[in-house]
Amino acid sequence: MNITKTHVKPLFKNSGYISGLFFLLTLLFSTPSFGQTADDANNFAQCKACHTIGGGKLVGPDLKGITERRDEAWLIKFIQNSQALVASGDETAVKVFNENYKIPMPSHKLSDDQVKGILKYIAAGGKLPTGAEPAKTTAKKSEVSTTQQISEAERFITEKRESSHKLAIFAIISGILVVIILIDLIFTHILKAKWIHYILLLSSLWIIGEWSWDVSTDFGRQQNYQPDQPIWFSHKVHAGQNQIDCEYCHFTAETSMHAGIPPASVCMNCHSQVKEGKRTGKKEIDKIYAALKNNKPIEWVKVDNLPDFVYFNHEQHVKVGKLECTECHGDVEQMDQIAQVNTLSMGWCLDCHRTHKVQFTENNFYGAYKKLHEDLKAGKIDQVNVKMIGGEDCAKCHY
Ligand code: HEC
Ligand code: HEC
Ligand code: HEC
Ligand code: HEC
Ligand code: HEC
Ligand code: HEC
Repeated sequence: MNITKTHVKPLFKNSGYISGLFFLLTLLFSTPSFGQTADDANNFAQCKACHTIGGGKLVGPDLKGITERRDEAWLIKFIQNSQALVASGDETAVKVFNENYKIPMPSHKLSDDQVKGILKYIAAGGKLPTGAEPAKTTAKKSEVSTTQQISEAERFITEKRESSHKLAIFAIISGILVVIILIDLIFTHILKAKWIHYILLLSSLWIIGEWSWDVSTDFGRQQNYQPDQPIWFSHKVHAGQNQIDCEYCHFTAETSMHAGIPPASVCMNCHSQVKEGKRTGKKEIDKIYAALKNNKPIEWVKVDNLPDFVYFNHEQHVKVGKLECTECHGDVEQMDQIAQVNTLSMGWCLDCHRTHKVQFTENNFYGAYKKLHEDLKAGKIDQVNVKMIGGEDCAKCHY
């Protein structure tokens, strides 16, 4: 802690000069030609949900004059990953964080140059130089491409539904065929060769068998299940467009069995400020206030359900197994409405356990598996999968 502090202080004393110098430089070099481009305006679009330039505070502070208040190196670090800076103990970052009711700003995958561009755009008051390509066209382009990109998840769901539908239609046709064949075999005798009857009968029955297996294995499972929720809560708006970290809301995913659903008080971290949405206006956000006022929890409908006799643990998969949420829940960032994308069947769990490589070395959790470590070193095996550490034992999932 001390080390970081002494490391940070000298930078701090100079920050007045540095930011002053920086501002002078921006004045000297950028203002006449502006220097910022349509790309910068486009990059700033992802900040707009939480910041204005001279329009007052939203979720985060008004950014007007920010390049005068802070030095550039600090701003780049903060904008790329503010939480890392807060965690390092940086005084200014901690102060800004505390002053803003400890609402973390999401990290941004922006290069140093992209951030510099955004800063120029902010310094110019959010205006583009005349002659630069207007931001509108670029913004439109990206809008079109996102609507064109049908999300993986949705396509996956439609494909699955379609293949089930096709099978059902085949089964119905086969059923009718069976009746016709039987009638001909017993009464009408239009087809003379009996073996044709038998082949047709067998293949029809096989299709019907496939279909009933498809239906029965779906029993109790609900792949593609996408219930309506009490509030139109969109993961696309929050986790996608605003890049809020999954674990900001599902904060127990790494530390407990359940990922958990955030209480309304977590929503209020932001919605005490953000009172209107682009698509639903005040209507949906007002329901959060109503829930808090009436002291009634929001009754979210659970989407992913395992039967009671199965044990599943998030911490084990997210923290120990180092899996991404998307590997099991699909492309949540693209979903306005959450759906269950995988079957959650026993076969699905086992398929992954048989093939998924465990990050075995340099992972404290696997210290106990001495034999496997020795085998790895000796070159007897070249990787460890979940099955080898007991991922197929019945008792691990059923107890
Ligand atoms: C989801 C909301 C959100 C988004 C999106 C967001 N910010 Fe922030 N920003 C905040 C909050 C909240 C704070 C203050 C609290 C903190 O330290 O995290 C903040 C703080 C800042 C600060 C520090 C202000 C100061 O007084 O030192 C800067 C600079 C900043 N944001 C720039 C940006 C830029 C540039 C973008 C877009 C690339 C962006 N932010 C996107 C919420 C957001
Ligand atoms: C290995 C697959 C897997 C991974 C990885 C995974 N989940 Fe889950 N998740 C599940 C299953 C299976 C359920 C259903 C659990 C049940 O019904 O008991 C579930 C349930 C949930 C629920 C419902 C509430 C709960 O806790 O049961 C939430 C929210 C959730 N997951 C979020 C996440 C987030 C966020 C991540 C990433 C940090 C994540 N999950 C990673 C498989 C996974
Ligand atoms: C870290 C900040 C943050 C948290 C936490 C948060 N939101 Fe939001 N929410 C936003 C931002 C930013 C917007 C976008 C506002 C806009 O449309 O410009 C938004 C928009 C919305 C909208 C309107 C969407 C639209 O387009 O009309 C609803 C409804 C909503 N949030 C519900 C919730 C609920 C429910 C929770 C709690 C489970 C929650 N939010 C938690 C930041 C947050
Ligand atoms: C702003 C808060 C917030 C963020 C950020 C967020 N979620 Fe959620 N999540 C919720 C709420 C509220 C629900 C319950 C309503 C619903 O199902 O849409 C939920 C539901 C879910 C469910 C369904 C749980 C069930 O009922 O089985 C999954 C899976 C999930 N989230 C995964 C994720 C993943 C993965 C991310 C990151 C990409 C993420 N969430 C980011 C608030 C959030
Ligand atoms: C996408 C891959 C994946 C899927 C799907 C998956 N798992 Fe896992 N699972 C892992 C990994 C990786 C580990 C290793 C983590 C560890 O060593 O504890 C693991 C470990 C486990 C363990 C501990 C095994 C042991 O020997 O300690 C249990 C129990 C478990 N999973 C249950 C389930 C259940 C139940 C499901 C289905 C609902 C499931 N898993 C689906 C990847 C997966
Ligand atoms: C990685 C986790 C995992 C392991 C290991 C596992 N199961 Fe399962 N099992 C499940 C899940 C998940 C379900 C729920 C399946 C569903 O809803 O279709 C299930 C369901 C079942 C069922 C109910 C019938 C059904 O298909 O729905 C039986 C019986 C069963 N398992 C027996 C076993 C036996 C015996 C073993 C050991 C050889 C075993 N399981 C190992 C995860 C596991």
